[in-house]
Amino acid sequence: MGFPLHRPRRLRSTPALRRLVTETDLAPRHLVLPLFVKEGATEPVPIASMPGVVQHTRDSLRKAAAEAVAAGVGGIMLFGVPAERDATGSAGVDPDGVLNVALRDVRAEVGDDTVVMADTCLDEFTDHGHCGVLDEHGRVDNDATLDVYARMAVAQAEAGAHLLGPSGMMDGQVGVIRQALDEAGFHDTGILAYTAKYASAFYGPFREAVDSQLKGDRKTYQQDPGNLREALRELALDLEEGADIVMVKPAMSYLDVLRAVAETADVPVAAYQVSGEYAMVEAAATNGWLDRDRAILETVTAIRRAGADIVLTYWATELATRLLR
Ligand code: PBG
Repeated sequence: MGFPLHRPRRLRSTPALRRLVTETDLAPRHLVLPLFVKEGATEPVPIASMPGVVQHTRDSLRKAAAEAVAAGVGGIMLFGVPAERDATGSAGVDPDGVLNVALRDVRAEVGDDTVVMADTCLDEFTDHGHCGVLDEHGRVDNDATLDVYARMAVAQAEAGAHLLGPSGMMDGQVGVIRQALDEAGFHDTGILAYTAKYASAFYGPFREAVDSQLKGDRKTYQQDPGNLREALRELALDLEEGADIVMVKPAMSYLDVLRAVAETADVPVAAYQVSGEYAMVEAAATNGWLDRDRAILETVTAIRRAGADIVLTYWATELATRLLR
């Protein structure tokens, strides 16, 4: 009778042993909470495809930010939903635009107790829903968009953002934003670059969250889901242009990309567990098809294991609160 010499089960036999040998740590500081604020809202507006997530009023946004800080989250990422949109997304640049007002509100609420980030992108603010301005043929005009991003970045820095998150996948966006910030004296405002951002079906619920006007897709600027090497090229460019943190998005369907980026980058790496990833788990849990709490913990742990130092997730406050217990 041959007994096994090696017994990996030995270290799994009690919770204390499992805790002792766990390889992947998850703490509140690793989590960043994305939040939406809707201009003119007098009550929080539920987002049907993201149960539990709302478009905040100015007041409820401050409360949500304070709760996130109390739970110890590492940061907050703000998205604005404007009342009026136009072709060039001018409300994104306007110091009185919804996102810049929200940044001031949130900084007044949380100070430096957490890291306040802003989405530096035009899709929430344009009446056509694209992440940039269009040329006379209706195509997204890369370089004309960069001019707008530069002004938007300075407005967001003035409004108090610690980190800017350019998410439009325009070529040269990190470099142009870095230069604009430096010229305006915002040397310490950092850039969390959306480095490898894929044209993904998993942004579906986000479109509802920001009342997106988009028809069609973003395939001329976001990456093809089949491409990995291209992500490493985007990484090299973002680092050269001055990215302080680099991000892969979505997370769960791109864990191999995340691993490759984490092995190459010499800056911190983030991953965005996007709206569709959130919605999938919530929908299955509502149907009783999986254990919600375990699924949340498992997905975020997997994203950390794949190489993310930082995870943006709509469960940030809830999960951070659980981790504190
Ligand atoms: C663009 C932006 C998007 C998301 C974050 N920034 C939408 C898109 O690229 O279509 C998606 C986030 C999510 O789905 O949770 N400003």
